[in-house]
Amino acid sequence: MVKTEYEFEKKWWNAKAHKEESDMFDEKINRELRWKEINKNLTSDIKTILDVGGATGVFSIPLAQKGFKIVHFDISDEMISIAKNKAIETKLTNITFEQGISADLSRFDNDSFDLVLNMDGAVSFCGIDAEKAIKETIRVAKKKVIMTVSNKANMIISSLRSGLHLSDERFIPAIYEMFDKGFWHTHQYNENKEMVKGCTNDYLGPIKAFTLTELKLIFENNGMKIERLTSIGSLTNHCGKEFVDKLFEKPKLYLEYIDLCDRFDKEICPDSLGSNQRAGIMVVVSK
Ligand SMILES: C[S@@+](CC[C@H](N)C(=O)[O-])C[C@H]1O[C@@H](n2cnc3c(N)ncnc32)[C@H](O)[C@@H]1O
Repeated sequence: MVKTEYEFEKKWWNAKAHKEESDMFDEKINRELRWKEINKNLTSDIKTILDVGGATGVFSIPLAQKGFKIVHFDISDEMISIAKNKAIETKLTNITFEQGISADLSRFDNDSFDLVLNMDGAVSFCGIDAEKAIKETIRVAKKKVIMTVSNKANMIISSLRSGLHLSDERFIPAIYEMFDKGFWHTHQYNENKEMVKGCTNDYLGPIKAFTLTELKLIFENNGMKIERLTSIGSLTNHCGKEFVDKLFEKPKLYLEYIDLCDRFDKEICPDSLGSNQRAGIMVVVSK
């Protein structure tokens, strides 16, 4: 498996900063579902929050506005700069910013934050270091972790779809790499480069994707109690873009739909595909 070069990754995320908040249809639903879970977990004992991979502050800024003491952490200085400007504009004094990589949170002591958020990138985009990033997140959390990571089932399907035109004799090796190791890197196989043409800088990754069973083991082996471990956003994946676009014109139905999505993930298909454009597994664990 290819090593993660963080300086390279940082430049890639910097190049993506300006479009971080232009949510595609299923990204918007995924974000709403995450807010629902976060709000449910903001109990009276939560005062300090670390947002790992906080990007442009979509979660960290509103949480600071609610009065929580926030540390916003990200690999990308461009993302941080956008978030920082929001904090200055809204005169927030209870949020600080730190640049670094999620697989090394050594600047923070054990149990430093009541709640640690690590959503949609700062685990899975560590590639071979993803498990290290999970362990670091657990270490610095005092009470609770809310995390989203890439869903292996979804990654297998998207690799099959986007790689079909590249081979007639055998499926490309990236598909077996995802089955066997849950791993993707643009520079690993020649075909991989073809698959990401058109993405930012013709590049994607690295990615480490998981199954629910793999995650259960990691969290339990590190002493965490699992409160939620399900795919997230699956109903929208099944209903498709056309259906969801129509809902955007019907605000009341849209709100009701978010509740149905949440119930679908928790009660009907907890081990499904999740969202396409955002990390499709949600984990909530406590210490
Ligand atoms: C897709 S954005 C998601 C942002 C936000 N957490 C959310 O859920 O909407 C991923 C963020 O993670 C950051 N990131 C990616 N890899 C990281 C790493 N190894 N360490 C710290 N941040 C990382 C990126 O710079 C980016 O800001």
